[in-house]
Amino acid sequence: MSNPLQIAALDTAAQDRSRFNSGTPALDRYLREQASQDIRRRIAACFVALDGERIAGYYTLAAASVPLVGLPDDLRRKLPRYGMVPAFLMGRLAVDEAFKGRGLGGALLVNALRRAIRSEIPAAVLLVDAKDEQAAAFYRHHGFIALADAPRTLFLPLDCVR
Ligand SMILES: CC(C)(COP(=O)(O)OP(=O)(O)OC[C@H]1O[C@@H](n2cnc3c(N)ncnc32)[C@H](O)[C@@H]1OP(=O)(O)O)[C@@H](O)C(=O)NCCC(=O)NCCS
Repeated sequence: MSNPLQIAALDTAAQDRSRFNSGTPALDRYLREQASQDIRRRIAACFVALDGERIAGYYTLAAASVPLVGLPDDLRRKLPRYGMVPAFLMGRLAVDEAFKGRGLGGALLVNALRRAIRSEIPAAVLLVDAKDEQAAAFYRHHGFIALADAPRTLFLPLDCVR
């Protein structure tokens, strides 16, 4: 990983997804078998970090919403009293074993936050789905807060990111 990695939209025709190994088979399988369908059906976007031709990491981003009551009081006070609040969801994030521990997970997170705050379509928070406690700890390390009734779903207010 001599040069900084490029982060770009997944190009299923040009990029080899078969070698990707994050150590979490469900996340590897998603990239191999499901991501292109989700992109085609406009269910989610998928962005990859590239080391040359090799996929070093990826994340998905989709439109979402979150119940206002799940958010903490101080944030709720700043929002209109709609039942649901607009959000972006980073549904998946994974780094290949060969690239872990070098800041790539954090860089992908920052990249997703940048896309979320630059979007023409506004949203109040970035949501993430943590697959287990370790993943939740990774997000908490980056300032994410768990929803009141769903400890594996965490959020970051986009206002504070901006
Ligand atoms: C979680 C994951 C994305 C982290 O990627 P990574 O490239 O190894 O992480 P980074 O090197 O960018 O770490 C950035 C920071 O997070 C911290 N961190 C990494 N994993 C952590 C964890 N599980 N808990 C708490 N902090 C963690 C690092 O210490 C580092 O801290 P620093 O910036 O203060 O030095 C990666 O381990 C992975 O792909 N895991 C399997 C899939 C997964 O759990 N995905 C999460 C969403 S479901």
